[in-house]
Amino acid sequence: MNTVNSEKLSSARFSEATNAFVEIFTASVDFDKRMAQQDIQGSIAHATMLAACNILTEQERDDIIRGLTQISEEITSGAFVWSIKQEDVHMNIEARLTDLIGIAGKKLHTGRSRNDQVATDIRLYLRYEISQISAELNRLQNAILALAEQHAATIMPGFTHLQVAQPITLGHHLMAWFEMLNRDYDRLQDCCKRLNIMPLGAAALAGTSYPIDRHLTAELLGFSRPSANSLDSVSDRDFAIEFTAAASLIMMHLSRFSEELVLWTSAQFDFISLPDAFCTGSSIMPQKKNPDVPELVRGKSGRVTGHLVSLLMLMKSQPLAYNKDNQEDKEPLFDTVDTLINCLRAYADMVPHIEAKKTNMYNAAKRGFATATDLADYLVRKGMAFRDAHEIVGLAVRLGIESSRDLSELSLAELQEFSPLITDEVFDCLSLEGSVAARKHIGGTAPDTVRAAIATAREQIMARNLV
Ligand code: ARG
Repeated sequence: MNTVNSEKLSSARFSEATNAFVEIFTASVDFDKRMAQQDIQGSIAHATMLAACNILTEQERDDIIRGLTQISEEITSGAFVWSIKQEDVHMNIEARLTDLIGIAGKKLHTGRSRNDQVATDIRLYLRYEISQISAELNRLQNAILALAEQHAATIMPGFTHLQVAQPITLGHHLMAWFEMLNRDYDRLQDCCKRLNIMPLGAAALAGTSYPIDRHLTAELLGFSRPSANSLDSVSDRDFAIEFTAAASLIMMHLSRFSEELVLWTSAQFDFISLPDAFCTGSSIMPQKKNPDVPELVRGKSGRVTGHLVSLLMLMKSQPLAYNKDNQEDKEPLFDTVDTLINCLRAYADMVPHIEAKKTNMYNAAKRGFATATDLADYLVRKGMAFRDAHEIVGLAVRLGIESSRDLSELSLAELQEFSPLITDEVFDCLSLEGSVAARKHIGGTAPDTVRAAIATAREQIMARNLV
């Protein structure tokens, strides 16, 4: 066969046209065009460096930059025609550049390969997206702080095993979510440090014989430095895996947050109401108001963790250096970015409108003998061993259950039946207010401690360097 496909990449080596299905099967332009602006940004920096090193003339550099700027505008306006024949975003842009400026367009690829080009594009793309995600995360944390401040002294039951355990404040509970997201924020910034290293110059795998200046390109693109090993630069996608792991942790945290919101809106808990704008009704049951946003976010957490596993499996056992397998990194990565940012956005918009039903929360704490530990601690302070106190309080709880009363509703005489150590001031620590107020050490649930934690948190996030 001697049908030469003139449009085929590296066509001179081929005597046969690409199978039509293979052409579609191997193309990535449908999804990697998402990195078009980063591809252009990288190419402008590359051309600038090539001219600075006298590998291109200034005229060629200027033509390239003019052409790429026009292409960028065509892409933004939707006028750019993407072609599957050009396989991917890189080839599409290069082909259009050559159409526009002629021979200088063909010189752009001097001293680079699509292998270092794509590795650079993904890093530029992810760096930008992480800044957007961080801003949404920050917005959500601010919303949590505002709600926590409002509810620093709102009493609710704290749970273990989903059974009422001890009274806490809603502000304290909200600050637990804040802390999780704080670590998530730090993880994203930390991931950026390893991500922000420049692969360009690694070329296909071994580097290039042109006298390039990788420090200059890195500086032009805002990377902290050029990568140290060309083989590693074009082949590893650990930075994408690391980001997806950080994203999975955020989604895991949001799924826990979601689960609690779903429980709390149920008639059985009835602790909060969510704004109507974030819920939907049922097509058949007129009374329903479903917490769709938290449920969807909870569901989407599985999808992001799925992407993490996909990327790990994609990378596993790949020999050095670049392999076409790596083209498969983009869809899971892009979907992780979209899913994460949408979930954070929904939460940041919803949280300020969560309404706490304070009386229901208070009564739930009361019903659950939440101050039993406080009674035991009281007896210990009076000289009893903790295990004995634990036993005695168990008996008091039993009396409460049998007579449908909380510990604070038992009479002094009844309590004294269990231990003569008990005197009138016991009621100070049997009250929910007394119980939470006593936990005033750092990290505790006392309203003043929660207010102090909120103030510290505010300072922390004010010091952030956001886009
Ligand atoms: N579309 C390719 C990718 O996403 C670009 C790199 C292609 N390199 C190659 N040697 N075929 O990985």
